Amino acid sequence: VRSKIAIIEGEERFDAALLTALRQLPECEYDELVAELPALELQCVNGVAQLTNNNTKSRILVSFNQSELKRRLRPANLNGELVVRAVIGRRKGASLRVLDATAGLGRDALLLAAAGCEVTLVERIPVLAILLQQAVRQAQNCDHEILAAAARRMYCVTADSQIALNENRQVAVDVVYLDPMYQSNSETTVAGLKPSAAVNKHMATLQTLAQINEQHYSGMQSADDNAKLFELALARAASKVVVKRAPKAPYLAGHKPSSTIAGKAARFDVYAC
Ligand SMILES: C[S@@+](CC[C@H](N)C(=O)[O-])C[C@H]1O[C@@H](n2cnc3c(N)ncnc32)[C@H](O)[C@@H]1O
Repeated sequence: VRSKIAIIEGEERFDAALLTALRQLPECEYDELVAELPALELQCVNGVAQLTNNNTKSRILVSFNQSELKRRLRPANLNGELVVRAVIGRRKGASLRVLDATAGLGRDALLLAAAGCEVTLVERIPVLAILLQQAVRQAQNCDHEILAAAARRMYCVTADSQIALNENRQVAVDVVYLDPMYQSNSETTVAGLKPSAAVNKHMATLQTLAQINEQHYSGMQSADDNAKLFELALARAASKVVVKRAPKAPYLAGHKPSSTIAGKAARFDVYAC
C-alpha cells in the first residue's frame, strides 16, 4: 500500500526541529526505509518544503513566498478576492477574528490575514499542520513586508475542528470559514466541473494526504462529516459562516445561504448568524 511520505534528504537538509516533529509521525519515513514507491516525497528545496505527488507526478511547495501569491496580496488585487469579499463584506477596517476550520495549505487564510483579519488555522492532517506552521513562521520572518505582516496575523492549530470549535468558547470568533474538500466524482460532476479542472495539483496533493492519513490514524473522522462541522460552525460564529463550494455544487448540508458570491472557480455561500 502506497501510504507513506518519504522524507528525502539530499544536499539540503530540513530544519532540525521540523525533522524531529516529522519523524514522530507514523506516515513519514526516510526515503531509504520505504520499501516501495511512496505516495508522496517530501524534500527541502531552497529552504522550503516541497511535496512531490507520485500519483499525479506533480509538485507543490508548502510556502507562502511564491510570486503568484504575493501578487494576490497587493492591496489593489486583494479587494477583488472573492474570499475577502465574502468574509469581510462591508466591515472593511474591522479586524475580524476568523477561524479557518479547514486550513489546508493556508492560501485562503493568508488572503484573509492580508486583508486585516486575525486568522486561526485549524488543520487535522498532522504532517500538513506541521508544514503549514513552518510556512507561516518563514513568512513571518521574510523581507516581503505585506506577506510578513499578514503571516503575523496567522495562528496554526493541529486539531480536528469538530473538537476545536467546541473548545475555548470564551474566545470570540466572528467568522468561521469552511472549505471542505470536494468529496467524490459524483459531487464534482454535479458541480459541473471536470475533475481535471476542479482538482488542481494543490487539491490532488491534499487528497493524497487525506488518504494517507486515513490509513495511519484509525478513528479519524471521515470526510463526510462536513454537515456536522457546518452545524458546529453556525453555533460558534458570532457574525457568519462562509462556505467555499465548487460553482455548481449543492449547498452544504442542503442549507440555503443568506447570500452568495459566485466566481468562475468557486462559489462562496454566506450564512449570517
Ligand atoms: C480543500 S482543503 C482547504 C484549502 C484551503 N482553503 C487553502 O486555501 O489552502 C480542506 C482541508 O481541510 C482539512 N479538514 C477537513 N475537515 C477538517 C476538520 N474537521 N478539522 C480540521 N481540518 C479539516 C483537510 O485535511 C484539508 O487539508
